[in-house]
Amino acid sequence: MTTNDLDPIVANARQAFAKARTPTELENAKAHFVGKAGRITELMKGMAALSVEEKKSRGAAINAAKQAIEAALDERRQALADAELHVQLKAEALDVTLPGRMREPGGLHPVSLTMERIELIFASMGFDVADGPEIESDWHSFTSLNNPPNHPARSMQDTFYVDIKGDDGIPYNLRPHTSPMQVRYAHQHIKKFARRVKAGEPLPEIRVIAPGRTYRVDSDATHSPMFHQCEGLWLGENVSFKDLKVVFTDFCRTFFESEDLALRFRPSFFPFTEPSAEIDIQFQSGPLAGRWLEVAGSGQVHPAVVRNMGLDPEKYIGFAFGMGPDRLTMLRYGVNDLRLYFDGDIRFLRQFR
Ligand code: DAH
Repeated sequence: MTTNDLDPIVANARQAFAKARTPTELENAKAHFVGKAGRITELMKGMAALSVEEKKSRGAAINAAKQAIEAALDERRQALADAELHVQLKAEALDVTLPGRMREPGGLHPVSLTMERIELIFASMGFDVADGPEIESDWHSFTSLNNPPNHPARSMQDTFYVDIKGDDGIPYNLRPHTSPMQVRYAHQHIKKFARRVKAGEPLPEIRVIAPGRTYRVDSDATHSPMFHQCEGLWLGENVSFKDLKVVFTDFCRTFFESEDLALRFRPSFFPFTEPSAEIDIQFQSGPLAGRWLEVAGSGQVHPAVVRNMGLDPEKYIGFAFGMGPDRLTMLRYGVNDLRLYFDGDIRFLRQFR
C-alpha cells in the first residue's frame, strides 16, 4: 500500500462530515473513519505484517491522515454548534425597536389638591392641621356643639347612623360635618398643655384646621352622600370676629389668587356659633364674575361649646368656620358637576395632573 491510498480516505471523511446535518449524524459519520471499526483503525491493524522501517513511515502517514480527519471533524462540530446557536438566537430575538408599554404618571385628585392647598395656606398663618374619626359619637357630632337630641337644628344635617351604640345608648353616626373636631382638638390641646396651665402659665391659643370626609343623606349634581369639609377654629383670650374676617379674606384671596375678590358675611344660624354668618365670595372677573357664591359657614364660638371644650367661656373667645373643599375645587377649576369627582373617569382626572 502507498501513502496515496490515505488521501481519498481523508477526502471521503471531509465529504461525509459536510453532509452531516446534526451532531448525531456527525458522530455516526465519525465512527466510520476514526471509530473502533473505522477505516483508520483498520489500516492500523493492517500494519502488523510490515517491517520495522515500513511501520515507521506507514504509521506516520496514517497518523497524519487521522489528524487531518479529526481536524475536519472538529471544524464541522464547531460549524454545527454555531448553526444551532444561530437558530436559537433567532428564535429568542427581541425587537427592541418596538415601542414599550407606557405607564402613565399618576396625579392627585383635584379635591386632594385643594386640601393640600388649604393646609398650606392655613399652616402659613400658624394653624395646626388635625385629623379625626369619621365614625363619630352623637355627643361629638351634635350635643357638644350645642345641638341636643330633639333640637330642630338637627334636621339641618341628616346623616347616616351605624349599628353601634355609644355609652349614652345613641348610635354612632358618620359625621355630617367636621365641627366635632373643634371639641376633640380643644380636649387634646388642653391635655397637651396641662402641665403649663398647672404651673400658672397661660394656655396657648388654639389655632387649627381639620380637613376630612363628611357624610349626609344627600345626592344630586352639587351634593354627594360623601363629601369633604374643612373646619377651622381660632380660640384665645382676645380673638374676635374681626380676626375671622381678616383670616378668611386672606385665605380666599390666596386660594383663588385674586386680590380683588369680595367677601360678604351674611347673618345666619348655627347652634354652635353666636353670632353666625354664612360667608359668600364674589369674583370681579372671569366666568363667575358678579355672582355671590357661598363657601363657608362661620361664627363666634358659642359659650356652651367653649364650656364643652372644658374651657371658661368668660375667658376664652374665638371663631370657627366650616368650608367645603369640593365646592372650592369646583369654583377654582370650573367643574360643574360634583359627581365627576367620584366617577373615576380618567379623562376628567388627568386634566389636574
Ligand atoms: N358645620 C357646619 C355645616 O356643616 C358649618 C359650620 C358653620 C362650621 C359655622 C362652623 C361654623 O365651624 O362656625 O354646615
